[in-house]
Amino acid sequence: MKQRKYDVIINEAAKNLYWMNGIESYLEHTQHEQLDEYIKIKRAIMYGNPWAIRDLVHNEIRRGDVKLTKEFLNLLFNQHTGYSEINHRKVLQYVAHSIDNEYIRKIASWSIRWSQRALLNDHFSRGQMESKLWMVDELKRVFPNKKIGTIAHYGGWYATVAQHLFENFDIKNYWNLEQDLQCIQISDDFNYEHKNNQWQFKAIGVDVKDIHWRSRRGGSDVDGGSEYFVCKATNVEGKLIEIDVWPDLIINTSCEHMDNSWHQAIPDGKMICLQTNDYFSNEQHTNCCEDLEAAVEKYPMSHVIYKGEIKTENYKRFMIIGVK
Ligand SMILES: C[S@@+](CC[C@H](N)C(=O)[O-])C[C@H]1O[C@@H](n2cnc3c(N)ncnc32)[C@H](O)[C@@H]1O
Repeated sequence: MKQRKYDVIINEAAKNLYWMNGIESYLEHTQHEQLDEYIKIKRAIMYGNPWAIRDLVHNEIRRGDVKLTKEFLNLLFNQHTGYSEINHRKVLQYVAHSIDNEYIRKIASWSIRWSQRALLNDHFSRGQMESKLWMVDELKRVFPNKKIGTIAHYGGWYATVAQHLFENFDIKNYWNLEQDLQCIQISDDFNYEHKNNQWQFKAIGVDVKDIHWRSRRGGSDVDGGSEYFVCKATNVEGKLIEIDVWPDLIINTSCEHMDNSWHQAIPDGKMICLQTNDYFSNEQHTNCCEDLEAAVEKYPMSHVIYKGEIKTENYKRFMIIGVK
């Protein structure tokens, strides 16, 4: 019998699940033992692969009938039935039901509240996922004792990468400095456990161009490299309070979205980890770099600890870790 190929998405409703590729990259990268199972889920839901469907239905038979079984079967057969009520939240719920992983469970429960407003396909694209995991890997080499201290993440978006950093490092505070107020809610919600732990994680509404570094405190100079800045955030009682941010590491994975003034303002001696890219054709990108050398020139450091690039499907991403 001639084998039919199952590599086309037929059901329109399932054409918008590109975040599944990023989750696959994550499971590949972490060598998760259920990677093959996940690939079957992708093949079944996105392409209607009958052998994948057979194995997954078999799994549901083994697990037994639960409240959501019918919905899971609707998802599994969607490419053949044309089931149109497929969405990010439902597919994530099924993935979290099948794959034993804390990060996926967190994305699934967070998506119940945010899947209509957060850009899942952009945030969990293969390129985004690979770029973040690459950063975590290189930071592990830079901080072998795992102690980072305080992180200021400029333009940290939904800051889902914070979970990997909390898992791998000893972090005192993680401040996501974001100009987009919705990203503040979304990232605070994703990281709610650390947020509820006395703001170990907290997103703060600020345009990073407006950060003013201070070198004096209590009438005396602070040590070089220990400069800080002050931000404002609303606490649980609804009161606007001032926070002194003393970053040991400044991360900026959104350099292509802003001019260089954030970098120019950072005092010498501060540790920075930045990523940018050559994705000029993306209309949101106002400040890309031709190549890695152009990035090194644009963001000068007194000591470059790491510089490198990775190739993703649509662009090259550059990363520099160093001391300014
Ligand atoms: C599309 S996202 C992030 C893309 C990036 N590649 C990443 O994965 O982190 C860009 C983020 O930068 C934020 N942003 C851009 N300019 C900013 C600024 N001047 N201050 C604070 N946040 C900024 C935006 O609000 C947005 O959340």
